[in-house]
Amino acid sequence: MNQTADILNWHAKHAWQPFTQMKLSAPPVIIDRAEGLYLIASDGRKIIDAVGSWWVSIHGHNHPDIVNAVQKQLNALDQVMYAGFTHEPAARLSHRLSEKTNGHLPRAFYSDNGACAVEIGLKMAFQYFVNCGRPEKSKFITLENGYHGDTIGTMSAGARSVFHKMYEPLLFPVFTAKGPDQEGAVESLRQILESNSHEICGLILEPIIQGAGGMIMYSPSYLKEARTLCDQHDVFLIADEVFTGFGRTGSFFACEQAQIWPDIMALSKGLSAGVVPFAATLASEKVYQGFYSDDRSHTLFHGHSMTANPAGCAAANASLDLIDDTCMTQIKWIESWNQENLRTLCAGRASSLIRTTRQMGSVAAMEIALNSGYTGSFSPNFRERCVEKGLLVRPLGNIVYLCLPYIIERAELDRIYEILEETIIEFSA
Ligand SMILES: Cc1ncc(COP(=O)(O)O)c(C=O)c1O
Repeated sequence: MNQTADILNWHAKHAWQPFTQMKLSAPPVIIDRAEGLYLIASDGRKIIDAVGSWWVSIHGHNHPDIVNAVQKQLNALDQVMYAGFTHEPAARLSHRLSEKTNGHLPRAFYSDNGACAVEIGLKMAFQYFVNCGRPEKSKFITLENGYHGDTIGTMSAGARSVFHKMYEPLLFPVFTAKGPDQEGAVESLRQILESNSHEICGLILEPIIQGAGGMIMYSPSYLKEARTLCDQHDVFLIADEVFTGFGRTGSFFACEQAQIWPDIMALSKGLSAGVVPFAATLASEKVYQGFYSDDRSHTLFHGHSMTANPAGCAAANASLDLIDDTCMTQIKWIESWNQENLRTLCAGRASSLIRTTRQMGSVAAMEIALNSGYTGSFSPNFRERCVEKGLLVRPLGNIVYLCLPYIIERAELDRIYEILEETIIEFSA
């Protein structure tokens, strides 16, 4: 057997992939290498990764600075338990993340994926009030169309989407406020808080863009109001910046667009630029002080074997070095190129097939005029067709979106839009 046949055979017999109906899915594309914007398949095809492989590769693939930093770290220290021990990359990273929040979130708790970072944030908010002798403040407010991950806690905190509805019996009850883009959103939040804040410890939301919910973009004014309401009702604001952090929306953190800071912030994906699985939950001094005690029962009882993995910290430090002023300017360029290209697309041959478009930072989204939901066939068929043409996109239902690495050049972006236009037209036939 040749190597390709072996891989496909082993895959067919033993693999079980995320969000994939294995019976219906086509054989996977085997990727051997990656470089910048491109994934390179075993048959030599170059595929543009226009979604940063689930929104993680913010600097493109295999950025030499990050790869070198990780290699150097692995030559020195691979792993040590992060209790009773520390190391330079973790200490440096905690210091830098605190600086990035202007000292508002000075404490970093590390883990290794976005869902974990959010779960830890939920546990922090909950236990803070237990430690302070107010255990009745134990519930959360979540927003319609929110998504925070696929563990039991994060599914509870997210919208009961088609993916998560079946797990309902396992999920804890929450208060759900209107989506932040909807009319009456602030009022809906206010009403929940006014009637129930005595039993609420936290409000969790994705600032500025609700990603998995369909790249829903909303006004910073909602975030400002949410911050004020949380303060008035002694409720923690938990910002899930797993998707929006590290320049994605045009500011370093999305919360900065509303000039607010949350009490707790979940980070992953762009934190290590997708090179090593890594995550952090940042907390304010107030949250931290709720745990800092002579009483050992007030300890935050959470941990993972690989917490603060040195290679993860090294990747994050190297990625932070790359998000400088030049990079932030480049993101502004990408935003304006997307704006232009979307305008051209909407005026061209595919115009009648596009319902709406939106863009912010390095994200662009277009709603295709088809009624195909998250479990419909449009998304997998569209994705497959685009991959055949050398473009990786993965629509959310009928929302086709781009989540571009900051290294993309104008000509490459134009090529993406050419392929999209061609393929959207094919799907209308
Ligand atoms: C806003 C948000 N939070 C949490 C998660 C979960 O992250 P992970 O897939 O690393 O568990 C995601 C993943 O897409 C996300 O978009």
